[in-house]
Amino acid sequence: MKIAIYYFTGTGNTELTVKKWAQEANKYNIECDLFKVEDFKDDVDVSNYDKVGFAYPIHAFNAPRILWKFATKIKKLSIKKPAFIIMVSGEYMNMNHSSDYKLARILKRRNLIIESEYHYLMPYNMIFRHTEKRAFDMYKTMNALSELDVKEYLIENKPHHLKKHLSIHLFIWLIRIEQLYAPLYGKMLHIKKKKCIKCMQCVKSCPVKNIEFKNDKFKFGWHCTLCSRCSFNCPTNAFNTGFLLPWKVNGKYKFKEPDFVEVDKHKRYCKKSYARYYKEASNRLGTIEK
Ligand SMILES: Cc1cc2nc3c(=O)[nH]c(=O)nc-3n(C[C@H](O)[C@H](O)[C@H](O)COP(=O)(O)O)c2cc1C
Ligand code: SF4
Ligand code: SF4
Repeated sequence: MKIAIYYFTGTGNTELTVKKWAQEANKYNIECDLFKVEDFKDDVDVSNYDKVGFAYPIHAFNAPRILWKFATKIKKLSIKKPAFIIMVSGEYMNMNHSSDYKLARILKRRNLIIESEYHYLMPYNMIFRHTEKRAFDMYKTMNALSELDVKEYLIENKPHHLKKHLSIHLFIWLIRIEQLYAPLYGKMLHIKKKKCIKCMQCVKSCPVKNIEFKNDKFKFGWHCTLCSRCSFNCPTNAFNTGFLLPWKVNGKYKFKEPDFVEVDKHKRYCKKSYARYYKEASNRLGTIEK
């Protein structure tokens, strides 16, 4: 079997997840090609693959706009082909399960039919910073679940489904903040000169080339996809993110068991949905609940 996963990642969580999938698939001698959606300009041909996956971080209860755009570049297949979705988010809410509804419609028109869906919890890159302990627990659970999911789906041919409420679709369509406000957000970004060390990491890593450095000045265009990559990875935390400043998260998570004590200021946040995620995971994995 040969599969492909086309993915977008803002700050690396989705990438860690698809890499784990590829590693697990390889264990069973399944070839798994990984592609970043931002690397494609022209038509995309998926006819060589037996199954095609799409992976993304959830942005305002939807798939990122860049994924939708990418999906429209896929060449229509002459016969139906199975597809699967990997969504990664900061909250395991049922509403988030519906984030692929528009993507699914675009793919269906190309004869790619979603037969299996997965939703992994990974730490926030916006809103607030999780503690290293929580980030590590999420990372460990994603790894364990991916191992099981790859085996069940690709070897035992058991697809996985997420609980969805059709009524939610209209609601999430209305609050597609990223799709509506991302260009504006990109324009509002600015860099604090005193803090910037001109490493150019933000310029080089922007997936849509929205940041330009000319005549000793940074310029931001209208193409932002609100991925957070620039402000999250800036080594000196030099970004001012306008009205989303109180929600800015800066600095990579270590994804290691911390050897220091942290105060968890957000213990109560999404408590129920996190508990449900770990309960469902431990039921499936046969481990003790967190
Ligand atoms: C603009 C934006 C909107 C987001 N909206 C949501 C959301 O609606 N629900 C959620 O659970 N997480 C949301 N997140 C958090 C990300 O989905 C989460 O941190 C994810 O792990 C990031 O994956 P990445 O590192 O591959 O980009 C949002 C992040 C950004 C940047
Ligand atoms: S990543 Fe940060 S420090 Fe580096 S050029 Fe951009 S703003 Fe400046
Ligand atoms: S400007 Fe920043 S947030 Fe916007 S797309 Fe580029 S890297 Fe992502």
